[in-house]
Amino acid sequence: MSIELINASFSYPGGFLANENLNLVIEPGERVAIVGQNGAGKTTAVKMMNGLHKPTAGDVLVDGKNTKEYTTAQIARMVGYVFQNPDDQIFNQSVRAEIEYMPRYFKLSAAETRRRVERAVILAGLEDYMGKNPFDIPYPIRKFVTIAAVLATEPKYVIFDEPTAGQDRRGTQILETMMDELQKEGIAVVTITHDMEFVARNFDRVVAMAHRNILADGTAAEIFGNDQVVNEARIRRPQLAQLALDLGLQGILNGDELVNALD
Ligand SMILES: Nc1ncnc2c1ncn2[C@@H]1O[C@H](COP(=O)(O)OP(=O)(O)OP(=O)(O)O)[C@@H](O)[C@H]1O
Ligand SMILES: [Mg+2]
Repeated sequence: MSIELINASFSYPGGFLANENLNLVIEPGERVAIVGQNGAGKTTAVKMMNGLHKPTAGDVLVDGKNTKEYTTAQIARMVGYVFQNPDDQIFNQSVRAEIEYMPRYFKLSAAETRRRVERAVILAGLEDYMGKNPFDIPYPIRKFVTIAAVLATEPKYVIFDEPTAGQDRRGTQILETMMDELQKEGIAVVTITHDMEFVARNFDRVVAMAHRNILADGTAAEIFGNDQVVNEARIRRPQLAQLALDLGLQGILNGDELVNALD
């Protein structure tokens, strides 16, 4: 059981090659951060994982199923993708309708629909917004509406595309608690982000992309400790990792590690 990209490439209509020969395996319950400069091909790659894009060369398998042989809706039920821009995803007139949409589409019972919606709403901290029009609420909350809508489908793998963009501390805290909860349930969480402090706090495994390729796939300490990867993927080291390196210490990601190393 896993998501597997096998020499997967993707060209957009018109011919632009956005991903070239990607090889990557994501297992249930894993947490993976995908990082790298604008235009590196991160969003394209995750859209291949949930069947929105079918590879133009190579294969993508989800729990052994080749995405080319299934509809996007079938794959999306296993792999949930929360869009980078919530306005590309939302189409209902109320927060409740947006979150209930997929459970209703699946024709789940009223009780099961209620259970799923309640769980998603609590995880996303949306209790006070259920009757509102999604387009009348602030962008960061709107992003949580799209997250809740995907969680209500209860996929085995969840992909967040830039979830911390525009979030304050409360939003980031909700996300971190949510990821812990999902991981406890054995759900894999893949997150694209430009926020390296968020990566250092929450992710062991980091995939760095640049120029349509995967540059490196390793622990956060390995990725942030590698000058070549940091420069080529144009990522900013987390502050403490940079401070530690300036002090000649490798593999430090947080304050506790730094204190221990200096002891
Ligand atoms: N619909 C499209 N048609 C043609 N080219 C596209 C399309 N969408 C994306 N691209 C191009 O593919 C490349 C990779 O885009 P992608 O969105 O995957 O990058 P990204 O790593 O997610 O970037 P960002 O950090 O800015 O979100 C970019 O050069 C982009 O311009
Ligand atoms: Mg993107």
